[in-house]
Amino acid sequence: MSNNINNILKGDLGVRELAYLLQLKGADQKLLFSKAQEVQLANLGRKVFYRGLVEFSNVCAKDCFYCGIRKGNKEIDRYNIEDEHIVNAAKFAWENKYSSMVLQAGERNDSAFIDRVTKLLKTIKQETNNELGITISLGEQTADTYKKWFDSGAHRYLLRIETSSPVLYKQLHPDNQMHDYNERVSCLDSLRNVGYQVGTGVMIGLPWQTYEDLARDLLFMKERDIDMCGMGPYIEHEDTPLYAQKEMLWPIEERFNTSLNMIALLRILMKDINIAATTALQAIDPMGREKALKIGANVIMPNITPTTHRKDYQLYQNKPCTDEGAEDCGNCMSIRIEMADREPGLGEWGDSPHFQNRTTPLK
Ligand code: 5AD
Ligand code: FES
Repeated sequence: MSNNINNILKGDLGVRELAYLLQLKGADQKLLFSKAQEVQLANLGRKVFYRGLVEFSNVCAKDCFYCGIRKGNKEIDRYNIEDEHIVNAAKFAWENKYSSMVLQAGERNDSAFIDRVTKLLKTIKQETNNELGITISLGEQTADTYKKWFDSGAHRYLLRIETSSPVLYKQLHPDNQMHDYNERVSCLDSLRNVGYQVGTGVMIGLPWQTYEDLARDLLFMKERDIDMCGMGPYIEHEDTPLYAQKEMLWPIEERFNTSLNMIALLRILMKDINIAATTALQAIDPMGREKALKIGANVIMPNITPTTHRKDYQLYQNKPCTDEGAEDCGNCMSIRIEMADREPGLGEWGDSPHFQNRTTPLK
């Protein structure tokens, strides 16, 4: 059997092979993990880069069926962290040599929001001596807005496709123009055209989702030649419409197991991209992120959102790290990285070598 896995891994990995590999457990899964680890160490070494995450507002114009901060959820307090506090969090990241931050919020397209982010990006750049790298994750915007934010200092963008299956996408979102699969794909194109390092990702173990869907998600990322990926298990939230599909939920261990297999396989398929060990993994297994770092992930996102609001950014329930302060998360992070036999890559931007390789012309 073990030979069999190695042979499959050496051959062409299409939907059939990937769907099979995604289900591995036990000794066969160990083989997959050791291959992924080998690829990681050979191409990226032991370093793990930090992205200090600030979830600065949970005000959201969208209504995705799975998400706890969707517009239709009246059970949560909406917040908007003041610019001054966001800038302080950015300075904290910079002073602690995180070297990059991620600004994330619910999606809004109004001009007040667009202008606010533009100004915020410029201020953060100024206040951190132009040294802090900024990734943004602010949903679907026009190409002009993407350009404006890029020109103001953001250089990486995360926009998860959520699923590469247009059918499943429809099942997970209201049927209107604001939640259109093709539009989301075209945003990935605009981001790339503007010049961002582009990150995408999916949720794993959704109701209706199959292993073939997930295999196609991996191929989607490969075909689109993405620079970064953040993906993790779907975790149900009781104040969302998708909770009604409870009887279709994947068993929690299966969602976790498959998430690790997704990461390992993506590492094998895309040797030099950045892959995040996402917080949702830790929501299922206290050692979830460490496990991911060992088998291919090389980026971690310590939460540096001021703690007063962390509890209100619950995309899913039981989200970890909602009580810790920024310092606690940072310390905890470096211990965790060492537990995973990796090294904190402090003081470096840690851009994906993939981006450099694709944008530097061959000599
Ligand atoms: N479970 C797991 N991930 C979720 N996200 C939103 N809701 C959930 C959930 N219930 C993810 C989406 C989104 C990212 C910010 O959080 O993939 O893109
Ligand atoms: Fe936040 Fe551990 S990462 S407390």
